Amino acid sequence: MVSTLLTPHVVNLDRVRPAIRALQPDLVSWRRQIHQHPELGFQEVLTAELIHQKLSEWGIAHQMGVAKTGVVAVIEGRRSGKTLAVRADMDALPIQEENEVSYKSQRDGSMHACGHDGHTAIALGFASYLARHRDFAGTVKIIFQPAEEGPGGAQPMIEAGVLQNPDVDAIIGLHLWNYLPMGTVGVRAGALMAAVECFRCTILGKGGHGAIPQTTIDSVLVSAQIVTLLQSIVARNVDPLASAVVTVGELHAGTAENVIADTAQMRGTVRYFDPKYQGFFQQRLEAMIRGVCDSHGAKYNLDYWQLYPPVVNDAAIADLVRSVAEAVVETPAGVVPQCQTMGGEDMSFFLQSVPGCYFFLGSANATRNFTYPHHHPRFDFDETVLQVGVEMFARCAERFLAD
Ligand code: NI
Repeated sequence: MVSTLLTPHVVNLDRVRPAIRALQPDLVSWRRQIHQHPELGFQEVLTAELIHQKLSEWGIAHQMGVAKTGVVAVIEGRRSGKTLAVRADMDALPIQEENEVSYKSQRDGSMHACGHDGHTAIALGFASYLARHRDFAGTVKIIFQPAEEGPGGAQPMIEAGVLQNPDVDAIIGLHLWNYLPMGTVGVRAGALMAAVECFRCTILGKGGHGAIPQTTIDSVLVSAQIVTLLQSIVARNVDPLASAVVTVGELHAGTAENVIADTAQMRGTVRYFDPKYQGFFQQRLEAMIRGVCDSHGAKYNLDYWQLYPPVVNDAAIADLVRSVAEAVVETPAGVVPQCQTMGGEDMSFFLQSVPGCYFFLGSANATRNFTYPHHHPRFDFDETVLQVGVEMFARCAERFLAD
């Protein structure tokens, strides 16, 4: 999994303009401050306060407390024009950090293990750059979003009106990505990340003596058949040219080796790219659970919910981001179109509302041991890329607002 990361890739910092390169020490300092004080979803109080301080210092109009802890900054150019939004998520994860670094998390059990500290720092750097370079047409709105890791801050921010007044014409965002080497950008039109759906099911059998099964309904046997059968949804119901995953991640039953379990609990997740499959997995999954339970005389309770839709990039904006990426990172190896992942992201809600593009900014560097995957207690990334992120945003804004 990690081996492809080991290919060293050089960031050509000559492509980053001097005014943005000069921000690098600040970018590192903000990132480390946020890293040391990780905050879970809808608790990003210190993070929002840091953003507030900096935006105030730079004279940037902004609104606090949008969808609880979100912040929205509005930077107007000298001439009227279109509005581009840039989105950065701010939240941390309930993970105990295992890195021994000077900027290690100071909060037990919480950690920025996904790079959102970097996203916030990059967005701050971009705001700082724009505040000093307002010679553009139109408006840039910077959306600092809470709770991406759950329960989801994008939808409440949209409901709070962040895409209006002024109306957003397009939105872009990035994710630092340790599955790609530093110096690369992963971008593609269409689906980039998968829809995330979740389920929880309790099988209600009839317990009894392990040696006298004829008087029982074995919830372990029923759930084992369900787990196996569910894998046939992807194998036999989904178009082989589409991608999907059904994972049962938890299965709990029983208390002793000689007791047939009364009930069994399972939890799992479903992923797919094509929006046409919305509702499809729920219907197939329930039909299979019902069928197996009926055949054994068992009952079941099923909760199924859709967490995030797929992240689907607009073709024209993705093309703009790709051509900017080709100018910023070395090409052609630096731009990676095969960058889809079955991971999910609530950037998808913004992209359902307005055209836009989400992209990956490679942040792994094997020579410095930044190769741990996201959500790992030893996750960390090469901070050199922070300035590259700002340059990507600056060039995308220039291109989009100039058209
Ligand atoms: Ni993330």
